Amino acid sequence: MKLNIALLAGDGIGPEVIDQAVKVSNAIAKKYNHEITWKPALTGAAAIDAVGEPYPDETHAVCEAADAVLFGAIGHPRFDNDPSAKVRPEQGLLKMRQKLGLFANVRPTFTFPSLIEKSPLKRERIEGTDLVILRELTGGIYFGKRGREDNGDTAYDTCTYTREEVKRLAKKGFELAMTRSKKLCCVDKANVLETSRLWRETVQAMEKDYPEVTVTYEFVDAVAMRLVQWPNSYDVMITENLFGDILTDEASVISGSMGLMPSASLGTKTKLYEPIHGSYPQAAGKDIANPLATVLSAAMMFEDFNLKEEAQAIRDAVNKSLAEGIVSEDLAEGGKAYKTSEIGDWLAKNI
Ligand code: IPM
Ligand code: MN
Repeated sequence: MKLNIALLAGDGIGPEVIDQAVKVSNAIAKKYNHEITWKPALTGAAAIDAVGEPYPDETHAVCEAADAVLFGAIGHPRFDNDPSAKVRPEQGLLKMRQKLGLFANVRPTFTFPSLIEKSPLKRERIEGTDLVILRELTGGIYFGKRGREDNGDTAYDTCTYTREEVKRLAKKGFELAMTRSKKLCCVDKANVLETSRLWRETVQAMEKDYPEVTVTYEFVDAVAMRLVQWPNSYDVMITENLFGDILTDEASVISGSMGLMPSASLGTKTKLYEPIHGSYPQAAGKDIANPLATVLSAAMMFEDFNLKEEAQAIRDAVNKSLAEGIVSEDLAEGGKAYKTSEIGDWLAKNI
């Protein structure tokens, strides 16, 4: 297969972890006879520095023309500490999600047998955990009307959803549930929020189209609690943008390190694959970050191209590396910590 992949390394550890995903993908291409053309483009603080804009039009054109986008991370502390900054790297991410129509963010959480003891949770609570949070990504409070009143002393952000927005996300959730254990949990705050009541009503109306799927409805506060008590009781979960942002960070540490969890964003155009962690500026340029979340995001990309064997070959190599202790600092716990680039080399060699 000929693949044209937009490569958005972004900020912080983005370029380092992206490099490893490229190494691994190139090893896959060589082994299975594919041809990958990488199209690098600027995003985030790096793009602000170069052209004054975190998601330039040229970058959007590269993404639109590509078969998929592989994305590193975005964000720089220089903007976090300056509330008056007019342009911020994160705006680039939001603009990209919106312009590429990436309305569904797929964030899986699973455990690695060799890392069970690294989880902050007890073994019996997490064994067998294999869940997917489908987060709505282009609506809600992230994109609602916001502003200041009262000479700046009052601020507001508004959460808005249309039935259509809920429907298309929920449809992905039902479809995913059909390929898994046919359990779907709709996470909302319908006891308080009108948007949540619209979510619930919309999902309830869709139940008849998927008679095999068992749907449950839970409030987000209760889910936040149960997710750390019994994560293995969940399978597919659907939720709005902000709840999904929070719950997926919470879920990401269940496996032992946030540096392990991949994600895919799907929508109306080109799909995007990215690690769920951020730009980790403290580690930037040190070759110490965990590249596995990005490598596993590349595996999700191959899977979506229906290259299942290729995706599995990446996952097998990752599992083998973990079992053999070829791990980065975050997982080394006093043992030998491998460099980001060494892990990439090891994986490519083992593929
Ligand atoms: C994420 C990130 C982003 C978000 C930030 C960087 C804007 O936390 O992808 O989860 O809140 O969506
Ligand atoms: Mn987040």
